[in-house]
Amino acid sequence: MAMSYVLARGRTLRPGVYGIDGSELPPFESGRVDPRQWFDDGCRPLEIEIGAGKGTFLVQQAPKRPEVNYLGIEKSSDLYRYAADRMRRRRIDNVRILRTDAAEFVRFWCRGGVARVIHLYFSDPWPKKRHHKRRVIQDQTMIEIHRVLCPGGELRLVTDHADLWAWYEDHAARHASFFERRRFVCPEAAGEGEIVGTNFERKYRAEGRPFFSMTLVRGGDEVRRTD
Ligand SMILES: C[S@@+](CC[C@H](N)C(=O)[O-])C[C@H]1O[C@@H](n2cnc3c(N)ncnc32)[C@H](O)[C@@H]1O
Repeated sequence: MAMSYVLARGRTLRPGVYGIDGSELPPFESGRVDPRQWFDDGCRPLEIEIGAGKGTFLVQQAPKRPEVNYLGIEKSSDLYRYAADRMRRRRIDNVRILRTDAAEFVRFWCRGGVARVIHLYFSDPWPKKRHHKRRVIQDQTMIEIHRVLCPGGELRLVTDHADLWAWYEDHAARHASFFERRRFVCPEAAGEGEIVGTNFERKYRAEGRPFFSMTLVRGGDEVRRTD
């Protein structure tokens, strides 16, 4: 049975204005896009969630922070449709879901200095060495995230996977001149005893897995330029 059918439970999923399909992005040659323009009030601060899955973090977080706009990026088309439909049905107007590869979006499309926070929770660990290049966090992604964040903006990372955590620590150390490492502070979405409150966190918590977290604050502006 197709994943979309199972997710939709027989309903027709309609992303409406809450969904932006990556194929609708302007051609690369026409310049970078400013995702703030996809919201009713583009003047609000923007936070981006990479790998939004079913949109559970955003469903919980966005209504608690109506003064903030949230862009969820999800590369699976089925999950994108499910998450955007979920926002439409609940009329969570400060959320948009973009279906695309987030690493490519930050690298090739997204204008610099637009995001106050980038959330990356329970990202796919790709445990085999030959698949490490598929992990979202790479040296190039760190450079692009630094560019896309506004000064003082934050990259927030949580994982259950010890090897991916070591990878994050290595990247944080290598990019220490550009990001200051701080303690992770739980967002409003987190329920009692939770760290963030995503689907994968709940699944892994039930299995008793440990969690690792950090916040990297954008600094180093004197040495790296924002366009
Ligand atoms: C393990 S799931 C975690 C989902 C959610 N963050 C959670 O904690 O429940 C990882 C999600 O990231 C998405 N994903 C992986 N790589 C991505 C990329 N490069 N761009 C956008 N989404 C990505 C996957 O499709 C999947 O939905």
